[in-house]
This record gives sequence, structure tokens and C-alpha cells, in this order.
Amino acid sequence: MCGIFCYYGKENTFETIREGLKKIEYRCHDSCGISVSNGNTETVRSLNSPDNLKLPSISSIQMGIGHTRWATHGEVSIPNAHPHVYNHQSLVHNGTIANHNKIKEEIKSLGFDTIGDTDTECFAALTSHLGSLSESLKRITDRYAVAWMTRSKMFISKDRMSLYVGQYKDGFLVCSDLSVLLEYTNKIMELKDKKCYKICWTNKELVFKTHKQSKQIEENNTEDTFMMQEILEQPEIIEGIYNKKRTRYHQSFSFGPTCIIGSGSSYYAGLIGKFMEVANHVICASEIDSYDLNQYRTFDPYEPNVLKALIISQSGETADCIRAIESISNYNHGGGAVEEIYSLTNNLQSTIGKSTMAIDLLAGPEKSVCSTKTFTAQLAHLMMCSYMDKDKYLPEKIQIILDNRNIIEGIPVSNNIIFIGKGSQYPIALEGALKMQEITYLPALAFPAGELKHGPLALLDESWTVVCLAPEDDNYKKMLLAAHEVKARHAKIIAITSGEEMKQLADYTIELPKTSEIESTILTAVVVQLLAYYKAKKLGRNIDRPRNLAKSVTVE
Ligand code: G6P
Repeated sequence: MCGIFCYYGKENTFETIREGLKKIEYRCHDSCGISVSNGNTETVRSLNSPDNLKLPSISSIQMGIGHTRWATHGEVSIPNAHPHVYNHQSLVHNGTIANHNKIKEEIKSLGFDTIGDTDTECFAALTSHLGSLSESLKRITDRYAVAWMTRSKMFISKDRMSLYVGQYKDGFLVCSDLSVLLEYTNKIMELKDKKCYKICWTNKELVFKTHKQSKQIEENNTEDTFMMQEILEQPEIIEGIYNKKRTRYHQSFSFGPTCIIGSGSSYYAGLIGKFMEVANHVICASEIDSYDLNQYRTFDPYEPNVLKALIISQSGETADCIRAIESISNYNHGGGAVEEIYSLTNNLQSTIGKSTMAIDLLAGPEKSVCSTKTFTAQLAHLMMCSYMDKDKYLPEKIQIILDNRNIIEGIPVSNNIIFIGKGSQYPIALEGALKMQEITYLPALAFPAGELKHGPLALLDESWTVVCLAPEDDNYKKMLLAAHEVKARHAKIIAITSGEEMKQLADYTIELPKTSEIESTILTAVVVQLLAYYKAKKLGRNIDRPRNLAKSVTVE
């Protein structure tokens, strides 16, 4: 999603910012821009990659601000890209501004008639009119990260969004992505919320701490996509998680009434948490406003007022999850409150990581937009929260699937796809359909196997592929029934199974190593990732950066 990268310094300023923006590209964007200043400002903007930005014509540049945009208000276009410039003052902004229509009216009445479709333009014009970032920020109630540059000065601020300053060469870097900033410097300062900072050497408020970078799994660059690279890392990551001791948060979360909250794949991981008996309730983060938390309060008569929550978020920056934290923190009905908020995140320094009792996902950076290794790492951590026995051979079993991935590559998947599963495999069916939608752009569906006969069977004919998630667990017999129903409608069956009867029914089988019922979800997750990957590859899709999606969704 949107990203900010600025450089207050003279050494190759424009190229330094362009390189920085390219490093945040993995978060996904549709347009970008850079303003530089040598006393006069010049701004260049383009669609797509920062590689498309023209070199500015001014020389002796002293500083600059850059941005990658993911459209929310206003279409994808060069005029809508940041920086927005008024009176030689440029502004870049992450977040959305709910009251922008009101500001727009005011600004127009002041003679700013060049305001376009975006909320940021109103903010930029207002800041220019007031001549002060701190003054204009008083009018913004939403979360934000912002950088504002006049001809000779740079100011930055943030509120409940990420923005960091780092000491770098002759000056300072400002970046909304800590992992990117750490590639340049480990002398980092995190901004306080709502405070406006002037970036210059004489500002005594800029105090840097040496940041200890956590050890990350080394990237293996032999694959042509990050997604495949990340799929292949899974045995090592799961082994690493299983071999670590349970942290105090793993232990304390697993005791008492709990609810799990997440978005996208992280929400689906949460759904499996219910089968691991670590959660009584699982809520989709974007739905939290419409839920009455009171309904979760009474399930334990001995602790009627206590509720623990676990936020699952790979990035730790998902706006819906942050909103959910605000919502449940404020919940206090009849004396009851959410007492402890935990999180499971790949970034302990993220907004969610810092505001909760955070468990480190230990999956290493994930660059492909669709989650793979972080999803299975989330499942492994939920296992660590539970008291269930773990299969120490699970990493080897994942490796067997990966070693036989050419079989999955060879299976034809039609353009009409349904994933079906029962029990804990149903969330994997949802995850399989999500993976397929994200990277193939096909309208893949997912149903609990027993639901086929209540509607979806009407769709089926020989043009459909039905993926049956069928480990030999308690639900296996019911999965066989569903597979018979599918076969009778001439749809093609891809079975992920170890069961002989299911293999007989299937058109194509992907052999599933045997493990516990719940850990089978990790194995079937790997298979559905591979099915989606190879289908997307055959369709020639941009696997790591699917259209319209962002890695980290920082707006609600
Ligand atoms: C985006 C990504 C999904 C991810 C979801 C939640 O939509 O494209 O792959 O599952 O955000 O992200 P989080 O960082 O909160 O786990």
C-alpha cells in the first residue's frame, strides 16, 4: 500500500529516494512520485514503478520526499499521485482523510481551484494555506503518516501509523517501513504520535537508538518469484517454531476465554485456532464494529467479565485490525472488558506489535502479496498456544509435498474452481480459494463439503474442478459422500488425500502425508498454495504483485 521514503541530505538525493521507493514496492502501489529541492522545488510523478520517474532538471539537490500510492480516493492517475504541490510546498501522505470534503469546500473558497479527486490534495492545500503542518494536522482525525517539504525545510509527523527517521550518511532518511530503513541504517528514531518534527541537524529532539535487527531467515534467490521462494522456506520455518520454547505469551493466551481477530489469510488461520481449542470465538477484523462483544462475555460463568483477544496480523499494520484493537480496548459493558490483547505478528515493531503482547511469528520477511509461509507459521504458533501433541516430523512431511511439486504442476485446473473441506479443513478451503482468486484472478469458491447439495451443485458440470481436502480424519467418510456427488455431475476432482477410496474417485490425486488431524491443515495449506501458484503461472499472471492488491492494507 502507500509508502513514504524521504532523504534530507545531498548525496545523490534523487536516486537514493528512488531506490528507497523501489524497496517499498513489495507493499504494492499503482503510482509514485518524488519532490526534490535545492531552494527551488521540482516534482516528478509517474504510474507504476519508480523506474518510470524522469530525472529532475535541477541540480545541487539538498533534500527530497517520495511516495508510492495505492489508490483509495480517486482513480489511478498521474495527477492523483503524490507528492501534491501547492506554492512550492510538497506533501506526501499515508492514510485516508474522512473529513476531506469539508476541507475541500473551505480550501476552494480560499481560491485553491486545482483540487482534484484525492483526499490528500485537500490536506496539502490546507497545509500550504496555513503555512504549518502542525496547524493543519489539528484538522485531521484519522490515522496518518506525512512528510511536508517547503523550499528549504522538511517536516514529518505520524499518528497511529508507521514512520521512522534514521541517521544516514550526511543526513537523515524518513521511511514508513522499518524493515526497509534498516537496510540503510540501524540508528533509528521512532516518532511520537501527533508530534511534528523538523528534520535538520540542529533539532535536538531527533535522538537515535541503535536498533537490534532480529535474525531473519536468509533469502534464497534461486526462484523466479518470491512466492515460490517463500513456499519452499516453510519446512525450515515450521521446524524453527516447533523447536523453540513456548513463550510466556503462548502460555498465558491459551488459558481462559479467548477470541481471535484477523483479516484475509490471517482470519482463516484464526478460524483453525478454534479447532486447536485456543479460541472460543474468531472474528473477522473488518466486521468488528458490527459485533456486539457482549455476546462473547457470558460463555464462561466463572469469569463472565474476562475476555482475551489475539490479533493475528502478518504485517502488524492492517488497519481493520488496528481499528479492532481500538474497538475492543474501549469495550466495557457492564463492567466487563477485554483484559489482555495479544498479537501474532511478523513485525514486533509494527503498530500492532507494539500496542499488544506480541508473539514473534519468526517467518522472516514475506514479499509476495499473498501469504504463504506466514499463514502456515501462524498455524504452527497456534499449535504452540495449544496443549496438543505436535508431530515432530511435520517439517519433513511438508518437504515431501514440496519435493513432489512437479505432480501438482502437471494437474490441469479448469477456470471454474471450488474448494471443499470439512471441520478444520474448511478454513483451508477458504484459504485455497483466496489464494486462487488473488493470483489467478479466477472467481474460485469454497464451501463446507456438506453445503454442496444446498446450492453449489447446480453449478457443476464437466467444466468445473472441485478440490477435495480429504485427510483420513473423522470427516473423511463425509468427504467421500461429497466427492460422489461431484463425480455424478461430471466435474473433475482433485483429491488431496491419503485415502484409497478417495483416490479411486478422484481424477487427480495429490498424496497427503499422514499426521494429526489439526496439523493436516498445514500440509493441505501448502498444497493449495502450489495449486494456485501453478495455475497463475500458466495464466501468465504477475504472481508476486497481483493487480489491485496490497501486501499491507493500511486503510479500512
Ligand atoms: C492483505 C494481503 C493478504 C493478507 C491480509 C491480512 O489483504 O493481501 O494476503 O492475508 O492483508 O494481512 P495481515 O498483515 O494483517 O496478516
